[in-house]
Amino acid sequence: MCATRSPVPSITIAQPDDWHVHLRDGAMLSAVVPYTARQFARAIVMPNLLPPITTAEQALAYRQRILSAVPAGVAFTPLMTIYLTDRTTAADIARARDAGVVAVKLYPAGATTNSDAGVTALHRVAPALEAMQRLGVPLLVHGEVTDPAVDIFDRESVFLDTVLDPLRKDFPALRVVMEHVTTREAVQYVQSVAQGLAATITAHHLLFHRNALLAGGLRPHYYCLPILKRAEHRDALLAAATGGDRRFFLGTDSAPHPIHRKECAQGCAGCFTAPVAIELYVTAFEAAGALDRLEAFASHHGADFYGLPRNLGALTLHRVAWEPPKRIDTADEGLHPLIPEGGLGWRVANG
Ligand code: DOR
Ligand code: ZN
Repeated sequence: MCATRSPVPSITIAQPDDWHVHLRDGAMLSAVVPYTARQFARAIVMPNLLPPITTAEQALAYRQRILSAVPAGVAFTPLMTIYLTDRTTAADIARARDAGVVAVKLYPAGATTNSDAGVTALHRVAPALEAMQRLGVPLLVHGEVTDPAVDIFDRESVFLDTVLDPLRKDFPALRVVMEHVTTREAVQYVQSVAQGLAATITAHHLLFHRNALLAGGLRPHYYCLPILKRAEHRDALLAAATGGDRRFFLGTDSAPHPIHRKECAQGCAGCFTAPVAIELYVTAFEAAGALDRLEAFASHHGADFYGLPRNLGALTLHRVAWEPPKRIDTADEGLHPLIPEGGLGWRVANG
């Protein structure tokens, strides 16, 4: 008879980083920053505020507001981005780089939440992209086409052929991160490129497929962009995340929206996962039998891509069944974190 190994009671990894998060501003910022700061040493903060963060000066001011919301005694470093618009110049890029901005975000205009000021045609931003290529500033891409004629489930795969591939041919030395990949096609595309292209993967795209959103009742808290796809795509993402490939790393895309803007006739896109982010990733890696691969994905690959030192601290998770709260009250409105049915089987120590 085979000996069955008893499950490990805890796991300790180097402290992870979140390479893609939305922290918002104002009261929402104060409410959500502590969750990210409690689990992650650093986070790349998305610039899609209203109005967006488009300049070095705005990024530095936003950084100060984020730091003011970090609880006393918690060490957390926000890494800032600016939002590419049709009017971004090469000088804007150079100033941002000099101010410590780590990357520039491309939202195709109209692709997602607060993307109306995004790029309408890539040729308009050629000087900015050329400056980024020259200065080594990575481009973070929301990889979906916006053509209303393209089915929402195909918008990422069409983007690869019609936008990303031509972009990479025009700017071969530009470093690119395809954010929150959701399809097997995107995984294969990233794997086909030896250098200069990487991808983040969210916890919710590793755990769920589109049935979670649509089968047996519409569940708006599972609605995000790019939208959850078929199970076979989820399986491809899980294989990429757990496969030890340095091109894939953790990015939660935690995107809080007030409950009344999720539970309504035309709900906002975004899954709020920050309160239980690393617990969700552990759950996915354990289901894949790959707990030993979590640290590389969560704590090493992203830092290596960005040329930043790996974190020295550690984070421990204990195996314990618990039901996180389904509602978090904030100063002005409530938030609904994305919690799997039946709760969680892991919990951050001192969490
Ligand atoms: O679901 C999403 N929510 N996808 C995005 O790209 C943006 C984000 C948000 O800001 O709410
Ligand atoms: Zn995002």
